Formats: sequence, structure tokens, C-alpha cells
Amino acid sequence: MNNDKKLIIAIDGFSSCGKSTVAKDLAKKLNYIYIDSGAMYRAVTLFSLKNNIINEQTIDEKKLQSLLNNIKISFKYNTKTGEAETFLNGNNVEDEIRNIEVSENVSPISKIKFVRENLVKQQQELGKNKAIVMDGRDIGTTVFPKADLKIFMTADVDVRAKRRHKELSDKGLNVSIEEIRNNIKNRDNHDQNREISPLKRADDALILDNGYLTKEEQLAWILDKIEL
Ligand code: DC
Repeated sequence: MNNDKKLIIAIDGFSSCGKSTVAKDLAKKLNYIYIDSGAMYRAVTLFSLKNNIINEQTIDEKKLQSLLNNIKISFKYNTKTGEAETFLNGNNVEDEIRNIEVSENVSPISKIKFVRENLVKQQQELGKNKAIVMDGRDIGTTVFPKADLKIFMTADVDVRAKRRHKELSDKGLNVSIEEIRNNIKNRDNHDQNREISPLKRADDALILDNGYLTKEEQLAWILDKIEL
């Protein structure tokens, strides 16, 4: 594969596998757009929590469907951090969408057919000019089945829980490793077993087990597949 044309690169895999870290690094290196599709499911979840659509784990799907067009998700580049941030109806929600309440409610939201259809359409639109790295669960299977390069990432659940714990503690959020581990296992289970677009490796996706690879090693591994 060479780099004389603009590529669509799809990175899928389990929760908290480091997909976004490597996807961001790759996008920077190639000067591509990076889109975190999980942030979009998280933004819909945050909206649902704030608007009484989710109550005690029950989702008012009718209400969500009627308000779906009022949910405007965008990404803006923060020149200070050098990274894209998620905006929900004009408000920066980059940190809020990562909290444990959103993490605990995002799986049932991401199961809903009309939510997936709506977000997949937006994701395809974002990729229409190519030169994009998108990460998620169904990018290589559903969003961009003809992506130029597909990576499927995996890592041991304990390694993932430790990494997520460090990330949250660095942000001053106090959540136990056990709680994070349970959340990750739960989300893996939901992601793999949901009816619509379950998490599964596309037949033509390359497997990257990053449990014991550094950031730099992961990036080099992918760049090698692009043969810059
Ligand atoms: O990548 P993440 O953990 O931030 O994603 C949050 C949730 O969104 C995850 O539990 C599954 C769901 N998701 C999805 O169903 N499809 C995607 N393409 C991306 C995320």
C-alpha cells in the first residue's frame, strides 16, 4: 500500500485498547483528520442523561428519536493541546463524555438502531474527502467497509483497566480499578453481542495486539503497513 493517494483508515477494537491514542498519532503523522466515533455515541448518551431520556437505566426511545435532530455533534481542533475536542450543541463536552456515568450508559444507547443509523451517516459524511483516520467498533465493517487499511486492536483486559485507571487519575477522577475493569468487560460483552453492527474483526482487518507495545511501536507497526 502506498501513500500517494488519500486513504481511509479504520481502527476498530475492544474498549480502552488504546485505539484513540494510536489513531491520533497516525492522523498527526499523515496530516489526516482524526474522528473518534465513540465520542459521538458518548455525546448522545450525555444528551440523554441531561434531558431525562435515561432514567434509572431505562431509555425513553420515543423521546430520544424525537429529539435526535436537536443533537448536534462536532469536533474542533484545540490549538493549545493539538487535539480535536468534542462539542455537543456548541458546548465543549470532551471531559464530560468520559465520565463513568456516561461510560455506564453508553452501551444501551449504542444498541439503538436509529441512533446507529444517524451516527453512521454522519461518520460517512465526515469521511467523504478521505484522508481520515476513524476509530470505533464498526468502522471497518459498517461505516467504511471499503476502507484502504483496517486495523483490529486488542489487549488483555487487566492491561486496559490499568491504563484507563491511570488516565482517569491523571485527570483527578477517583474510580477504582475494579469498577473500571467491570465497565470494560461489560462494554466488551455488549459490543460483541448487540444485534446491529456488533464488534467483530472485518475479514480483511489486520490484528494489532498492543498489550505490551509502546505508543511508538504501535505507530511504527501501522506505518509499516502503509509503506510510507
Ligand atoms: O470508544 P469508546 O469506548 O469511547 O466508545 C464508547 C461506546 O460507544 C462503546 O462502549 C461502544 C460504542 N461505540 C459503538 O457502538 N460504535 C462505534 N463505532 C464506537 C463506539
